[in-house]
Amino acid sequence: MTSAILVLPGDNIGPEIIDEAVKVLRAVIVKFGLDVEIKFADLGGAAFDKAGEPCPSDTMALAHQSRAILLGAVGGPKWDGLERELRPEQGLLKLRSQLGLFANLRPAIMYPQLCTTSSLKPEIVSGLDILIIRELVGGIYFGEPRGIRVLENGEREGFNTYKYSESEIRRIGRVAFEAALIRGRRLCSIDKSNVLEATALWRETITELASEYPAVELAHMYVDNAAMQLIKEPKQFDVVVTGNMFGDILSDAAAMLTGSIGMLPSASLDKNGRGLYEPCHGSAPDIVGTQKANPLATILSVAMMMRYSFHRTDIADTIELAVNEVLDNGLRTPDIMSDSMTMVTTREIGDAVTARI
Ligand code: IPM
Ligand code: MG
Repeated sequence: MTSAILVLPGDNIGPEIIDEAVKVLRAVIVKFGLDVEIKFADLGGAAFDKAGEPCPSDTMALAHQSRAILLGAVGGPKWDGLERELRPEQGLLKLRSQLGLFANLRPAIMYPQLCTTSSLKPEIVSGLDILIIRELVGGIYFGEPRGIRVLENGEREGFNTYKYSESEIRRIGRVAFEAALIRGRRLCSIDKSNVLEATALWRETITELASEYPAVELAHMYVDNAAMQLIKEPKQFDVVVTGNMFGDILSDAAAMLTGSIGMLPSASLDKNGRGLYEPCHGSAPDIVGTQKANPLATILSVAMMMRYSFHRTDIADTIELAVNEVLDNGLRTPDIMSDSMTMVTTREIGDAVTARI
């Protein structure tokens, strides 16, 4: 059976980084004789400009038919003035939610070649290998009621709802315990249970689940402390599990530990292995068209796709090895540049990875 991969370039640097990742994808398809078909569609601002909405029905239909989706990035100042439902980000949120992509995996890995590009001292970050697992289709991002209402005194009030049911917590908890089992067997669950009831239930439910995974050492941490510990002593973490909003914030912090958010891939998975793969970074409107964007996070997202949606560890390893070799050879985009390295364009670093497949 042919499997389809849907490619959504998105906005700003999205198409530039996607070009490079698709080159790598085509190269592994040829090398490993994969029976997959690549399709393209619009998402975000690009979709709004053509179809008047950020996630049009034809994009959604193609997404439903695909085994895996590769996304560049969405958003940008051009669309910031639109009403909320029409903004590019809503296209992505709709895709995540309608496809049930509840498990977001964000690995923060320190490549030894980039140790000096981190803003933290090399001894704090060298060897860093954290997997952040973020719940992606619940919590305050999707909780109802929500909105902006007018109070009796005429003043406006904004409100959102932070809620998690036990089944939602258990579902993401299982993914995290399973991931910990095949890594360092340590799981840290992050909440704010000293203040928020929704996260007190989170802590309770994760603690209950731990009895099914006696081989995993479970710890809990409040999110404020977790933010501090990530900067102070990041190597204490193995797998981290948390809700949607805390995961959004902490994964950006973790990304920066590794030197550049331009190196961080992600996978967003449903319960059957369908996945959306995207770099953790944004659409970088400030460098669009300059060929300065780092495509490695997107290329590494293709590796995650091979690992999680196609169960092809061999292909994932090949892509990751190619990225490592390119870094060994000193090729760098500006975000990961350091002394005596060679500055190259988005296209040049993409070509270099492709040539090593
Ligand atoms: C992310 C992004 C998104 C999020 C935005 C673009 C909606 O920041 O994937 O981390 O908040 O989830
Ligand atoms: Mg984010």
